Amino acid sequence: MTNHAAVTIVTGGASGIGLATAAWLLARGRSVLVLDHSEANLESARAALKAYTDTAAFAVLDVTDEEAMLHLISSRIPASTAISGLVNSAGFGADIPFFETTSQTLRDMLEVNLVGTFAISREVATRMSGTGGGSIVHISSVSGLIGNKGRSAYGATKAALVNLTQVMSNELARYRIRVNCVCPGPIETPLAAAAHGDAGKVLWEQQVPMKRYGTPKEIANTVGFLLDEESSSYVTGQIVSVDGGFIASGLLSPA
Ligand SMILES: NC(=O)c1ccc[n+]([C@@H]2O[C@H](COP(=O)([O-])OP(=O)(O)OC[C@H]3O[C@@H](n4cnc5c(N)ncnc54)[C@H](O)[C@@H]3O)[C@@H](O)[C@H]2O)c1
Repeated sequence: MTNHAAVTIVTGGASGIGLATAAWLLARGRSVLVLDHSEANLESARAALKAYTDTAAFAVLDVTDEEAMLHLISSRIPASTAISGLVNSAGFGADIPFFETTSQTLRDMLEVNLVGTFAISREVATRMSGTGGGSIVHISSVSGLIGNKGRSAYGATKAALVNLTQVMSNELARYRIRVNCVCPGPIETPLAAAAHGDAGKVLWEQQVPMKRYGTPKEIANTVGFLLDEESSSYVTGQIVSVDGGFIASGLLSPA
């Protein structure tokens, strides 16, 4: 991302990991278009990022609405402006036992976490292919890598992002588009607070070797590295866990 006039799009950018990533980019002089389906979250994001009125833009978008997504990108980002980065952070999940998970729950999560990510990535990559490339980062989850309880629907949608990353990085390398995937462990965000609850929080803190939740900024630091052409120009197709050691661990040492 050496071209600072170019814009980076962050979906789900009005809260948690997406918001921290937008702040990371803006603090380094980049232009960011924050997209989110929640008007309330967009309003607080606008307030949180008020120092960047010249470089931060905001728009309502539900990533499952492909027609609206196509219209928004073409109307908000003229062809003369390159899109140098895309972060797919829009997503949601819940801790639901397998026997209580409905097919509709799986479909709803798939639409946002996978299909929404797929559709905007294809549109943005098309734009990038005509302007010399760029960097795309999908936000998956440690639950997309292993069988965490209660994640049959969420985990399956997040696992799909791992393979999407690999195929996209393979096919898009020739256009100088890098595609990587970040798998957060438990991160202090509204989504995690709702999905984990108090009992889940205790469990996570016991099972993560570093014995704590990560912060949204700790994810943004890695996403920022992967977006930055100078830092990660030869990194593509990678699945990076940022999880306090959770994925690497097995039997834990006594506290
Ligand atoms: N917090 C964690 O512990 C954790 C762990 C692993 C992965 N993740 C992933 O990180 C990403 C960000 O989650 P977060 O924890 O920052 O959650 P969050 O709820 O704080 O932020 C998610 C944002 O995405 C928006 N969003 C949801 N559905 C959308 C849609 N259809 N269209 C547009 N925007 C939409 C929400 O309004 C919200 O502002 C998600 O994909 C999540 O699955 C989070």
